[in-house]
Amino acid sequence: MEFTQLLTARYSVRAYKNTPVEEEKLHKILEAARLAPTAANRQPFKILVIYTPGREEELQRIYSRNWFVQAPIVICVCSIPHDAWSRRDGKNYADVDATIAMDHLILAAANEGLGTCWIAAFSPEDARDVLQLPDNWEPVAFTPLGYPADEPRTKNRKPLEELVRFEK
Ligand SMILES: Cc1cc2nc3c(=O)[nH]c(=O)nc-3n(C[C@H](O)[C@H](O)[C@H](O)COP(=O)(O)O)c2cc1C
Repeated sequence: MEFTQLLTARYSVRAYKNTPVEEEKLHKILEAARLAPTAANRQPFKILVIYTPGREEELQRIYSRNWFVQAPIVICVCSIPHDAWSRRDGKNYADVDATIAMDHLILAAANEGLGTCWIAAFSPEDARDVLQLPDNWEPVAFTPLGYPADEPRTKNRKPLEELVRFEK
C-alpha cells in the first residue's frame, strides 16, 4: 500500500474474525518490528506472539473486552529498561523503543490487510502472571492481530495548527 494510504487505512479494530493469520504475513509483520530504530541500537524489547485459541479465559484477565480474544493471535511488546539507552539526565528510552517497534508492527499489519488495536489499559499484574514474564520485562502494549470484522471510522484528529509550532 502507498504510505499515506496506509496511514489513513489503519484504524483501531475492535471486532475480529477467527480466520487464521498466514505464517508468511506474521513473519513480515514481525520483521517490520525487528527493523525498528532504537536508541543507540540497543533493541531492548521482546515481542510475545500468543495464540489465542484455548487461552481466552486467562487472556481476558489481562484485558477484559471480548474482542481482545476474538483474533487468532494477541501480541505483546515488552521493554527491557536495563538493556536500553539512557540519556545523561537518567531518562530511559526503553518504552519509546518498544513503542516504535509496536508501531512498525501495527502499520505492517495494516499493510497486509490485518487489523490491530493498541491496548494500554491492560492489567500489568495479570500480564506478568499469565505470560510468566521475567521481572526485568515491562509489558508496554498489547494488540490483537487478525482479520477485521468491523469497519473503519472517520478519523477525528486535531488540526495541524494545534499540533505544530513552527519556530521562527
Ligand atoms: C498508546 C495507546 C494506547 C491505547 N490503548 C487503548 C486501549 O487500552 N483500549 C482501546 O480500546 N484502545 C486503545 N487505544 C486506541 C486509541 O483509542 C485509538 O488509537 C484512537 O482513538 C484513534 O483511533 P484510531 O486508532 O482508530 O485511528 C490506544 C492507542 C494508543 C496509541
